[in-house]
Amino acid sequence: MTKTKIAPSLLAADFGNLQRDVEMVESSVADWHHIDVMDGVFVPNISYGMPVIKAIKKHATKPLDVHLMIIDPDRYIETFAELGASILTVHYEACTHLHRTIQAIKSKGMKAGVSLNPHTNINLLEDIINDIDLVLIMSVNPGFGGQSFIENTYGKIKALKELIDRKNASVLIEIDGGVSTENAKKLTDAGADVLVAGSFVFKSKNPKQTILDLKLVAGG
Ligand code: DX5
Ligand code: ZN
Repeated sequence: MTKTKIAPSLLAADFGNLQRDVEMVESSVADWHHIDVMDGVFVPNISYGMPVIKAIKKHATKPLDVHLMIIDPDRYIETFAELGASILTVHYEACTHLHRTIQAIKSKGMKAGVSLNPHTNINLLEDIINDIDLVLIMSVNPGFGGQSFIENTYGKIKALKELIDRKNASVLIEIDGGVSTENAKKLTDAGADVLVAGSFVFKSKNPKQTILDLKLVAGG
């Protein structure tokens, strides 16, 4: 069995103690830093931008997994490459020319991810699945941390797994929103490779231990 990756979402970190929280993730068994960028247009919230990511990168050696919840992400692909993103994920719903966007991300040396909102059907990825490195399935409506997990996600993971197998693609399945030790095992059993967790990690008493708990439950 492949090992599940854990990507704590820094959206739930204490921004007054960002260095401390990034260092906590660095010293934990987490695999990636999940970085949520929101523009207040694609989603009804604004998170943080380039100066904050620069500050995160200063203390990070683990890959930056950047999740763009912004319209027209092509404008910033080069900037995120310069900031040190390893994985750059754009939303299917935010890209008119998704194929072009994917090629642009890869041409800058980053892994390319595509994220789907809860209402977006997996089959829409049929013609792009062989071009991408990762699919991020939103298990909440994007925009905020701390929301309840949408149960329909399990079926979407299975449908995506089938599509990946049928097309003989090499794509990681990442799940984002409402992830905890309650659902981690069921998610990996369904086919998830990467679990993002924000509030479950950072609002816990011992975040580093919580990351380990998630990893163990998920089978990492
Ligand atoms: C939501 C973000 C998530 C968020 C997850 O739009 O994409 O990454 O931080 O937060 P939790 O784990 O609290 O649902
Ligand atoms: Zn995210």
